[in-house]
Amino acid sequence: MTGRIDELVRQVNFHNYRYHVLDDPVISDAEYDALYHELLALEKAHPELIRPDSPSQRVGAEPTDKFAKLVHPAPILSLSNCFDLSDLRAWRVRIGRMLPAETHLDYVAEPKFDGLSVVLHYEQGRFVRGATRGNGEVGEDITANLRTIHSLPLRVPVGSAPASPVAEVEPPSWLVVRGEVFINRSDFEEMNARLVAAGDKPFANPRNAAAGSLRQLDPSVTAGRPLALYCYDVVAADGLALETQVEVMDYLCKLGFPASPHTAHCQDLEAVGQYYLEWMDRRDQLDFEIDGVVVKVNHLATRQALGVVGKDPRGATALKFPAREKTTRLLAIEVNVGRTGSVNPLAILEPVEVGGVMVKQATLHNYDDIARKDIRLGDRVIVKRAGDVIPYVVGPVVALRSGAEQPIQPPGRCPSCGEPLIRLQGEVAIYCINAGCPAQLVRLVEYFVSRGAMDIESLGSRTAEVLVERGLVRDVADLYYLTAADLLELEGHKERKTANLLAGIEASRERPLARLIAALGIRGVGVAVSELLAARFDSLAALSSASSEELQSVEGIGPHTAGAITEWFSVPRNNSLVEKLRAAGLKMEADRPTSPATEVGRLAGLAFVITGTLPGLSREEAGRLIQDHDGKVTDSVSKKTSYVVVGEKPGSKLEKAKQLGIPTLDEAGLRALIRP
Ligand code: IVH
Repeated sequence: MTGRIDELVRQVNFHNYRYHVLDDPVISDAEYDALYHELLALEKAHPELIRPDSPSQRVGAEPTDKFAKLVHPAPILSLSNCFDLSDLRAWRVRIGRMLPAETHLDYVAEPKFDGLSVVLHYEQGRFVRGATRGNGEVGEDITANLRTIHSLPLRVPVGSAPASPVAEVEPPSWLVVRGEVFINRSDFEEMNARLVAAGDKPFANPRNAAAGSLRQLDPSVTAGRPLALYCYDVVAADGLALETQVEVMDYLCKLGFPASPHTAHCQDLEAVGQYYLEWMDRRDQLDFEIDGVVVKVNHLATRQALGVVGKDPRGATALKFPAREKTTRLLAIEVNVGRTGSVNPLAILEPVEVGGVMVKQATLHNYDDIARKDIRLGDRVIVKRAGDVIPYVVGPVVALRSGAEQPIQPPGRCPSCGEPLIRLQGEVAIYCINAGCPAQLVRLVEYFVSRGAMDIESLGSRTAEVLVERGLVRDVADLYYLTAADLLELEGHKERKTANLLAGIEASRERPLARLIAALGIRGVGVAVSELLAARFDSLAALSSASSEELQSVEGIGPHTAGAITEWFSVPRNNSLVEKLRAAGLKMEADRPTSPATEVGRLAGLAFVITGTLPGLSREEAGRLIQDHDGKVTDSVSKKTSYVVVGEKPGSKLEKAKQLGIPTLDEAGLRALIRP
């Protein structure tokens, strides 16, 4: 019995390591579950045989009312900061003065994880205790919470499978390891969505979420939080003779500790500089937040000799990235009306530089969000800009309130047309449902002429506004009835500009049916769905009379989109618009009847993974486009993946693709595969 339990503990821990640390499982989830359940059953029958390093012991500890103190075996140091490469060179000069002349230094550089430092104690290879950093001398004992982290090894070396590279290392008798606990961005979004759905307050950022989760008094709450761990240092050990940081990292990995795959050995300071600049560019490709890179002198004896100033070792430093979160004042709220009539608040801010860009405005998702975060006019607010994402207001800094801040009320009437606003059931946004609302019409025109739709480049936002204001455009079809005389009257429209605009409008009459369908702005009907519809229905007339069932028989179109389409065509005003467009001479028929079912698609036999935001397709649309051409779409990158389609802000899938040497494509590349 003991033998089988030992074997199962070993196997489950090993497969857990393959899954959570290496991200490369070697058995299926079902096989894993079978092993785990066999173990649970044996433990239930023989509770006296439960081992402390059994995977069943990750959860189940009783809540406490406070954390015990734990003294660290050596000071848990912090790091000095450098803010740019000239600071880094100054750091090198300072430490150079303390070393024999001409000493050459090599370094280890790695991301600076934006999480919380933890100290993990192992005895005879078993995880026995763990603590927060605390004041660097004494931390809080959070062992029960740490146990719940799946990538934290309960026993080292983790190795079990015969071919495992981790099997040969002897377990150290005493080992204290330091690492950082954090939460991946994607897990954070999911977790916040769950909290909100359950009526709880979401966390402001992944770091706060990780901190809050680690300091839970009830470990079962922590167990439900997606905490991740990377280890980067040996604080103390018995009988270990490691000489360099490179060896430290190798050793930790051999034992089975999770470590960042982005650690680099840099031969000189210039290489460190390159590493820093590279990650400043690529930080959004990681699924976790980093606020800089950490630079460590590779030779441990040299680092030791360099000593400590205050709490900072001289032999390592943090090279920070420019901050992307700043606080500033919320001056006013501007109210915008979208194409669908949704009324959206926009924050007007005291201008502030965030990550190298001046920010004056930021998104405030909706009025519910403002209320939930209790954001008030005049508040100092945290503004965040991540990559190319539009800046947004994270929340107020309540501690800085003067008392003069004013609550924000949602408007009762549309700022554009003055009609009363309504709230649709089940939606957070408030809507102006006046079909003649000028602001909505401007947005509709902007959408109609955009690149994926009728592509009338010569018609900008300002022109759209003026055309609507002057009453020259009362619906998008009016664009096709504009005359040179109309346009020449507009401010700033000389002959050349007018001719350009008319030529652009004229050319758009020839756009294929799919573009026209996209341009109508039906909910859920973007570029890819329009392609599917145009391929199936030969004309706009056929599409407009299709039933919901017929629409759903098109692969890739679900009940939601089908409903939106039939609803759109049931509105008399929309049908008049279609007639007006037909009268204007737009193409209402598909170019050639296609019969996709009889041909094998161009992507047959290929497997795709999509990561990041594509410029012209939602992820769903891209997936459908691939499937419609007989390609397969999967969630995770493996050796079987043919291509990874990469958009803005790709996630860790791109990293994985690079590791495995899988070719990547952008959206244009994908389209080229379909239509060379
Ligand atoms: S090394 C002597 N490496 O940053 C070694 N620290 O601002 C000291 N941190 O307290 C730490 N990522 O919590 C190191 N790759 C990394 C790190 C890292 C994040 C944290 C750590 C430290 C803080 C200092």
